[in-house]
Amino acid sequence: MKLLEDRILKEAKALSDEVLLVDMFLNHQVDCELMYEIGGEFSRLFARDGISRVVTIEASGIAPAAMCALIMKKPLVILKKQPSLVLKNGILQTEVFSFTKQKSYMLTLKPEFIAQGDRVLLIDDFLANGEAALGAARLIEQAGGTVAGVGAVICKSFMPGLRRLKDMGFHVEALASIKRMGAGEIVFED
Ligand code: G4P
Repeated sequence: MKLLEDRILKEAKALSDEVLLVDMFLNHQVDCELMYEIGGEFSRLFARDGISRVVTIEASGIAPAAMCALIMKKPLVILKKQPSLVLKNGILQTEVFSFTKQKSYMLTLKPEFIAQGDRVLLIDDFLANGEAALGAARLIEQAGGTVAGVGAVICKSFMPGLRRLKDMGFHVEALASIKRMGAGEIVFED
């Protein structure tokens, strides 16, 4: 998606050859007009997948996923990462290890928010190792849904997540795929 790639080239910073800082439009300050365009692009890319629900993971997936759900006119469900005082009984949980943050967290879903047979579009901000997406897929399937698509705003294609998900048969789309980055350079896949 050219609009997104241009924005990354203009404003993002490679903090290392593995971590990209995008907190000026995606992770901290959020450009809602850009998020709306991103939502529209996901809605076009997954138009033929019979999507019945959009699912994301808090926190940074929420903005692009909400725009996508709005445009697709489908319900949005946010998987929780923080321990909840009110969600205690009748919940599904799975452990996810974040390589980027070098720690595990429990991903939580209240199964009543997935209908039997739901075809879920999973949207997240970054696809790196794919652990978050695979954890989300486990919960969605336990609740009776199917992951019909995985959309990442930014994919780091030099990390294994994209290949892992594709090899498992998921329809995966990334709006900007970075094949390498480092001091002063960010290079996208063709
Ligand atoms: P994985 O799910 O693909 O395996 O990725 P990993 O666990 O390694 O990364 C998880 C967290 O790190 C996610 O944030 C993801 O957005 C973030 N992340 C991964 N690579 C980058 C990067 O290059 N730049 C930035 N800015 N973030 C990255 P999170 O813990 O879910 O945080 P948030 O959604 O609450 O912001």
